[in-house]
Amino acid sequence: MPDTAGKAIKCKAAVAWKEGEPLSLEEVEVAPPKAHEVRVQIVATALCHTDAYTLSGADPEGKFPCILGHEGAGVVESVGEGVTEFQPGDHVVLLYTPQCRECRFCKSPKTNLCNKIRGTQGLGLMPDSTSRFTCKGQTVYHFMGCSTFSEYTVVADISLVKINPKAPLDKVCLLGCGVSTGYGAVLNTAQVEPGSACAVWGLGAVGLAAVFGCKKAGASQIIGIDTNANKLKKAELLGLTSFVNPNENPGKTMPEKLFDMTDGGADYTFECIGNVKTMREAFESCRRGGGTSVVIGVAAAGKEVSTRPFNLITGRVWKGCAFGGWKSKDGVPKLVEEYMSKQLPLEEFITHELPFEKINSGFDILHSGDCLRAVFTM
Ligand SMILES: NC(=O)c1ccc[n+]([C@@H]2O[C@H](COP(=O)([O-])OP(=O)(O)OC[C@H]3O[C@@H](n4cnc5c(N)ncnc54)[C@H](O)[C@@H]3O)[C@@H](O)[C@H]2O)c1
Ligand SMILES: [Zn+2]
Ligand SMILES: [Zn+2]
Repeated sequence: MPDTAGKAIKCKAAVAWKEGEPLSLEEVEVAPPKAHEVRVQIVATALCHTDAYTLSGADPEGKFPCILGHEGAGVVESVGEGVTEFQPGDHVVLLYTPQCRECRFCKSPKTNLCNKIRGTQGLGLMPDSTSRFTCKGQTVYHFMGCSTFSEYTVVADISLVKINPKAPLDKVCLLGCGVSTGYGAVLNTAQVEPGSACAVWGLGAVGLAAVFGCKKAGASQIIGIDTNANKLKKAELLGLTSFVNPNENPGKTMPEKLFDMTDGGADYTFECIGNVKTMREAFESCRRGGGTSVVIGVAAAGKEVSTRPFNLITGRVWKGCAFGGWKSKDGVPKLVEEYMSKQLPLEEFITHELPFEKINSGFDILHSGDCLRAVFTM
């Protein structure tokens, strides 16, 4: 154990004091890990839409002040009592979807949603209902069980996984959310077969990872739908075979356009925007008799989806997934190995690389239209 073990660490973190305000770089105090907890030195973190969404105040369950960030990778600094799986120095990716291997959900092959710490994680607390962060004498909440916008963080031992120490942490941090999500939605949730006609709504990091997953699965058609034509070049590089800008040719509905392109409807569609209108379009663009649509995008609080029930009666399947359906401790180390053997091109998803101090500029970059992921290194 290092000589910091068992003591509070003072370090830099980006604190979200209040919704709608920029993050504030502060010195925070990070308490040592308690039983079944691990303190991690974060090396790299990406910024995801969920961080921006929570900071905007749009999430009614957002807790402030908090330390945001959930796409992170780092090195174990110290471990709490009862932790046998990790040692100081281990390289890890943080997991906002944990895997305890004991709960009803972990034991089921049908889902990756571990239930063990769901309640406290949603409240911004560690499993014992307290926080490890303080700043200026105030308690600061955790976020999504990760809080990667800090030089040090504490997570439950089910919320991180050991990875190949040779893997560059400033690349594999992306496996903590967006890329794993789109890629897994295709391979785990839809289980796309070779020769399928697929369509992906939204060509951000999540949608592009889905495009790449479709290519991996041997889809014969991979159609991308995005209002931003600048996404086309990268999408083609990752496997896209055709592109539709929904603003062009307004005489036809999106399902009509897709039916024309796929001889009666897509086998698989993926909604990677988070808009209930495009969720409906994606569903209704599937073919009758088995066409499957997967909802990946997260809609704003309170939004509802709708369709005519007849679309279900005629055998279309509407499903969704979180974190690409990966059981996180099992899945992420494998994805790291895929990256290491050049089977998963994570670099293609990184459009911006900045020092952690520039974290606030990340929110503008994220909304600029040419950002896939911005990675910040400590
Ligand atoms: N289910 C999960 O576990 C999970 C995990 C991570 C992210 N997400 C969600 O996935 C979604 C996508 O994330 P991202 O990081 O790729 O986002 P992004 O903003 O980078 O990408 C969205 C893309 O959709 C396009 N777009 C927006 N409105 C459109 C419209 N009406 N028609 C066509 N294209 C449109 C944009 O131009 C952009 O290219 C978000 O909702 C995010 O919250 C879900
Ligand atoms: Zn995310
Ligand atoms: Zn579990």
